Amino acid sequence: MNLLAELRSRFATALESLDGADLSDMVLPSQDPKFGDYQANCAMPLGKRLGRPPREIATELVEKLGVADLCEPPEIAGPGFINLRVKTARIAELVGDALVDEHRLGVPTATEPRNIVLDYSSPNVAKPMHVGHIRSTVIGDALAQVLKFLGHKVITDNHIGDWGTQFGMIVYGYKNFGDDAKLAEAPVGELTRLYRFVNSLVDYHALRTKKIPEAELAIDQQQLAVEKLSSEPVPEDQKAQKKAAKKLRQAEGLLNDCRSDLVALQQKLVDAENDEQLISVAKEHADIGQKVLAETAALHAGDEENVALWKRFLPACLAEMDAIYERLNVSFDHTLGESHYHDQLAETIASLEEQGLVKVSDGAKCVFLEGQDAPFIVQKRDGAFLYATTDLATIKYRVENWQPDALLYVVDHRQSLHFEHLFATTKLWGEKDTRLKDLELEHISFGTVLGEDGKPYKTRSGTAVGLSGLLDEAIQRALAIVSENDDARAEPLLSAEERQTVADRIGIGAIKYADLAHNRTSDYVFSYDKMLAMTGNTAAYMQYSYARVSSIFGKAGVDRQQLRTSNPTIDLNTPAERSLALALLQFSEALTRVASDYRPNHLTSYLFELASKYSSFFSECPVLKAESDELRTSRLALCDLTARTLSRGLELLGIEVVERM
Ligand code: ARG
Repeated sequence: MNLLAELRSRFATALESLDGADLSDMVLPSQDPKFGDYQANCAMPLGKRLGRPPREIATELVEKLGVADLCEPPEIAGPGFINLRVKTARIAELVGDALVDEHRLGVPTATEPRNIVLDYSSPNVAKPMHVGHIRSTVIGDALAQVLKFLGHKVITDNHIGDWGTQFGMIVYGYKNFGDDAKLAEAPVGELTRLYRFVNSLVDYHALRTKKIPEAELAIDQQQLAVEKLSSEPVPEDQKAQKKAAKKLRQAEGLLNDCRSDLVALQQKLVDAENDEQLISVAKEHADIGQKVLAETAALHAGDEENVALWKRFLPACLAEMDAIYERLNVSFDHTLGESHYHDQLAETIASLEEQGLVKVSDGAKCVFLEGQDAPFIVQKRDGAFLYATTDLATIKYRVENWQPDALLYVVDHRQSLHFEHLFATTKLWGEKDTRLKDLELEHISFGTVLGEDGKPYKTRSGTAVGLSGLLDEAIQRALAIVSENDDARAEPLLSAEERQTVADRIGIGAIKYADLAHNRTSDYVFSYDKMLAMTGNTAAYMQYSYARVSSIFGKAGVDRQQLRTSNPTIDLNTPAERSLALALLQFSEALTRVASDYRPNHLTSYLFELASKYSSFFSECPVLKAESDELRTSRLALCDLTARTLSRGLELLGIEVVERM
């Protein structure tokens, strides 16, 4: 049973007669046990709404509220809070139910299962994958698992970028600087080399012909602005004086920013000029930017040679990507990349035009959206389609083939404007199509993974290989920690092989957990030391907690299966036992929270809290040396359910546990 959902539904019934059914969400778990287990704050807003004293409303609500089977008589506190304490006997009974529920541990499935398409990971192949793609992969996978566990139908689709400019780059690179021998020997290495080389050539020319001149111009303009401000007569009035001074300071600040931008660009240019290989060919490839676009356009137009090269290069790129997925233990129902939609783009534009949504501006086809400064460009003036066009075609395809209720995109926050435009356009497009109109479209945005210097985290080489190195390093460090801890034992417990397995799980778990435990919308600093710490809200601590609980069964010599089915009486006479038992029942609430705003950190917080409740229980309540056999069994049952909840919760987050570490 989901206690919170149950209480809310009972409140909804009671609230209905007072016209306040919409307020049932104001029943929440209490922050402090002295206010009971749950607290309802709805009497205050309802009092306001009805123009009656909230305490009076609270009294009326309590009279109407049918919770006698679940709770002690509700108490009214302060201005009209209703405090609810679940009957301890009921908690014990529900723990018994969860105990025998092998797979679901008492978690009910959603009353209204939905059909959800999850778009996540979605890297651009042939281009170095970065930690942001790991974050998308890890968050997306956790959401997929939680939503599935709650009974929703989830279709996962990896919308890889396999059709963009990066292919124009490697095609151009191959034609001009390719090395067939290297390509045969180590395709990914060679493709990465070509990508980087072409990319730096493009960058080099852009710096010289565009970026630096633009930055210089920006300085001139800002300089003028500063001069103008400083030549203005000083106002008489003190307030105005202050205001003018502030304006001048701001303008000077901007000027400084412009100057440091230029310095940074110049530094890049110096670096490029020191690259002999690059400079030796730079002259001959002065129009490389155009040429790369032309190669991409030729690929899109079906040019035989370019299509053949694309087909030749793609498998190696995919294999490289799959190797990372295998290590992360994630898989997708579909991997329909951008190329899959290529021949649906023209009809997408036609369909938008048919509905009168397209306006031509400066030669480009655009959809103008209310309240947005910039339009959503769906076709460039040279006829090229864009990322946006593909995303529109993708929505249509998904709607037609999978009939989803919701489309969720786990993509980093820098793309939020794209998704805002995409969703608004889709709603216009779907004006007459209920499948599109009623579709929930959600950008599951996430923040940047930062390095210790506060700048976006870069792996040493910044390549996909670098990502695999990132996982290696986490595992290596985990192995050192595991070995050190084991060596410190009077008698080491783990074989070399076991140490390695444990280190694999802790290392990968650490990276995943760090991605998940931080509120997804905030940036966080990537730190091996922090994520591998054995204490605090980390994977290692959670895995350790699991192993610690598990170790008790061997010592107790009990058959856990038998323990579950023997229908043991659950005794919750101490506060620590009761509090642990209640926390165990709240697993389903944590999962529901994750599903409600798509934030996996609700689950990590829950598990962390559960582990700490277990700790208090374990230090206050002897298990193996309990006063009676019945009590020992009851406590072992709590241990069993704790272990299973921890491991199920971690499993849903994509993190594996170990029996000992
Ligand atoms: N390939 C894109 C990138 O790496 C992300 C794609 C996200 N999904 C989508 N349907 N737009 O930035």
